[in-house]
Amino acid sequence: MKFRLNSLVIFTTALAMAVAIAAVPVEAAKKKRDPGKRAYMRNTCIACHGRNGRGAMLDYPNLAGQDAKYMRAQIKDIMAGKRTGSPDPTGNPRSAGMRGALVTPEGEPRITPEQIKTIVAWLAKQTPAAPTPPEKPIAAERISAGEKLYKKKCRSCHGKKAMKPLKGYPVIAGQKHAYLVTQIKDIKAKARTNGKSKLMLATVKKLSDDQIGMLADYLSQIDRTKK
Ligand code: HEC
Ligand code: HEC
Repeated sequence: MKFRLNSLVIFTTALAMAVAIAAVPVEAAKKKRDPGKRAYMRNTCIACHGRNGRGAMLDYPNLAGQDAKYMRAQIKDIMAGKRTGSPDPTGNPRSAGMRGALVTPEGEPRITPEQIKTIVAWLAKQTPAAPTPPEKPIAAERISAGEKLYKKKCRSCHGKKAMKPLKGYPVIAGQKHAYLVTQIKDIKAKARTNGKSKLMLATVKKLSDDQIGMLADYLSQIDRTKK
């Protein structure tokens, strides 16, 4: 009995080790092979948008789980200088750093449309970031007021719980608070006019700063990692 028990233990341990050894190279190879991830790392996207598009720096947007068609259109506009946005704290347009990374000073793209397509296809499949906890706790009443306002003014385009937008429109649930506020204000102030952003103008035109903050309080705390 003792012998059988021991050999069972040894066998199980050996099996677990074999599985582990086999699993490591397969996992690593799989990750290495994804051309989207490779291009994302090589083209310095990771420096600003974080590992797997989930840990963007400063008030930069997270990209994991974003709509692929939307992302492609935005990258194209940023590279073409059509999406500039309001000046950041350095006084440069918000997208200037990204444009500088992807376009030479002579205006030559450093990245091909094919590479962009592979990157956004990979990003769209990544698990979205978990919400960043707020600096100060947000009262439950404020979150529900934000939700109410969202349902009334934004849901028709950005979808249920801000997760199921119309085709080619952005997912705005779980996005970073500061980024949401900046973009809504930029669209309102016509500092961001590229793509389909004009469609939003009528809706955001009358929003107060407090209402914009309230919407961002609600949207930034939606957890997209829970289905
Ligand atoms: C130097 C920093 C930097 C680099 C490098 C960079 N980005 Fe960005 N990216 C930004 C910033 C900042 C914005 C937001 C601009 C704004 O507020 O208007 C942005 C916006 C975007 C958007 C639009 C997101 C949205 O929700 O509207 C996409 C998509 C994107 N970047 C993809 C990429 C990809 C792919 C790469 C690499 C090929 C890349 N970025 C490289 C800083 C960067
Ligand atoms: C008529 C449709 C429509 C309505 C209503 C609408 N949006 Fe949008 N929204 C869009 C579209 C389309 C875009 C992408 C614009 C582009 O192509 O650049 C957008 C972009 C955004 C962005 C920027 C996303 C990013 O990743 O950069 C935010 C934030 C946003 N909307 C919030 C809201 C909020 C909050 C409301 C309600 C107060 C709202 N929108 C109402 C259509 C709409």
